[in-house]
Amino acid sequence: LIAFFAPKHLAGQRVLVTAGPTFEAIDPVRGITNLSSGKMGFAIARAAQEAGADVTLVAGPVHLPTPRGVRRIDVQSAQNMLEAVAQQAPEATVFIATAAVADWRPASSAEHKIKKDGSGQVPQLAFVENPDILATVAQSERARAGQLFCVGFAAESENLLAHAQAKRARKGVPLLVGNIGPATFGQDDNALLLVDAHGHRELPRASKRQLAQQLIADIAQRLESSIP
Ligand code: CTP
Ligand code: CA
Repeated sequence: LIAFFAPKHLAGQRVLVTAGPTFEAIDPVRGITNLSSGKMGFAIARAAQEAGADVTLVAGPVHLPTPRGVRRIDVQSAQNMLEAVAQQAPEATVFIATAAVADWRPASSAEHKIKKDGSGQVPQLAFVENPDILATVAQSERARAGQLFCVGFAAESENLLAHAQAKRARKGVPLLVGNIGPATFGQDDNALLLVDAHGHRELPRASKRQLAQQLIADIAQRLESSIP
């Protein structure tokens, strides 16, 4: 009911959200992933939809219900996630990257299950770096022309403000949202630090649902005032 009467801050906006971990295959039955639950990203997708936006959610492997009215695309690897995002980004006006994208993937994925050979030898895994989805989108022509507002997330274990400021500059995004992790992974509440070119502002500890609504209101204000 509250959602029904909520102000439609984002009417006419098309919001693209990434959420959850990625899964990088080693062989058909094994892979590398992380403990991201996807809860923050799903809450943001829900809040954006309730604020009147048309929302597409690109989700890594998570066990969460799709928020009502949200278009969901399920992916596994970082490369799959980039493909889906690249396909949707030309239609979007806001991109919010909450996914915990694996930084590296195995250089190759075995076609068949890797077996023990009985000698006690262990497989030697080589890694390659994954594409940076957020930086790729932020460097696109539409983002640089101000037609696609990009928001990054960062979970840091220390020096949140300094790391978030550096990351914002490195990624080339107008807004970066920091939180102290990995303590928040899977939790239902969190606290956020919003860092932009002018300074920073804290959203104090609250439920991920409330924080998502506050963040969406903040983004809507930035779009309205068109001051990134
Ligand atoms: N991100 C992304 N693609 C990647 C890595 C990160 O889109 N391959 C996005 C995340 O979704 C997040 C932001 O970039 O919005 C910051 O992610 P983070 O892991 O904190 O930054 P990294 O650049 O990977 O730096 P590091 O992990 O070394 O701190
Ligand atoms: Ca990373």
